[in-house]
Amino acid sequence: MLLAENGKIVPRQPIKDTSFWGRDDFGPKNDWKVALPPNVIVDIEAALPGLKKASLHPKDIRPEHFPLPNSAVFLEEVNKSIEIGPGFALLTGFPIKNLGTADASLAYQGFMSHFGRIAIQNRIGEYVVEVSDKGRGLGPQARGHYGNAELNFHADGANAVSLLCLETAPEGGQSLLIGAAAVYNTILTERPDILPILERGFHHHRRDEREENDPKVTPWRTPVFAYYDDRLHLIYTRISIDYCEAEGIEITPEEKDALDFLDSVLARPHLQVSMDLAPGDLQIVNNFLCLHARTSYRDSETQKRRLIRLWLDNEKSLRNGPGKMDWYMPEHSRFLRERKALLEFPLNSKQSERKN
Ligand SMILES: [Fe+2]
Repeated sequence: MLLAENGKIVPRQPIKDTSFWGRDDFGPKNDWKVALPPNVIVDIEAALPGLKKASLHPKDIRPEHFPLPNSAVFLEEVNKSIEIGPGFALLTGFPIKNLGTADASLAYQGFMSHFGRIAIQNRIGEYVVEVSDKGRGLGPQARGHYGNAELNFHADGANAVSLLCLETAPEGGQSLLIGAAAVYNTILTERPDILPILERGFHHHRRDEREENDPKVTPWRTPVFAYYDDRLHLIYTRISIDYCEAEGIEITPEEKDALDFLDSVLARPHLQVSMDLAPGDLQIVNNFLCLHARTSYRDSETQKRRLIRLWLDNEKSLRNGPGKMDWYMPEHSRFLRERKALLEFPLNSKQSERKN
């Protein structure tokens, strides 16, 4: 059986590189955690006044605006984890203690500029999003970052999504991650018959992240598994597939079966890592190598979960596929800009077979 990459043939075979991991690969003591070394903290604190003075829009912040002269080796190690390792990094001890929210956010933006350009996250033009419970539900008109509901495994937009934890909730709010290779290998072993359906992909509901005259649903399908530059990409968000049914897009019984089996693989605890983010924890996740999820949480009067979220567009990343940026804000999608030809396959309208 073969998977086609833009007209090229790629054999379906298990992924055995360093992106293949399960929970037990990290040991019993949360071995994914990496403490920021003192020299990196000194660099961050020294760079903040200059960035404040520069007063830049987040999209314009570059590494030279936030120099980290003694951190190059550390930054490279973190980048390797995101790009060719497990696809994520959790750094602890980001120096937020003596900073207000604005300065903590600015230091975070400066630090993250070393991993990519800060990208737009929604139609109202936010580049820096505070993730907290503002009492908004989850649905076709709302994304999940302003509510406290459980969020199932999904990918965000751009190359990577990052969170800086400022405060935790007294209850819930765990962050879960699962790797593309483990998911793919499991399906290849147990249900190879559904791979063609997952590779063909699905339409996605834009959840009102669109221009007024744009269709509510993407006219093209986005593959769940795809190969670009000979590397596997996993792109998935179940609810934005399911919401399409209300817009007249049929999801066949075979497609539902494939999605349900995929969800059953995502639910296997031995494939996941679970993180309790603490204040000062900084998580970076490659959107094509890992899916992320969040358990529900409950704030109290005195303790409210607050995170700052960034999306990162990394031109040097080894992986760049279609995803959430293409559904919501195609004009900002580097994938569409650089790889228009790829839309002829496998995303063209003939293959998409829209039912309405
Ligand atoms: Fe997310």
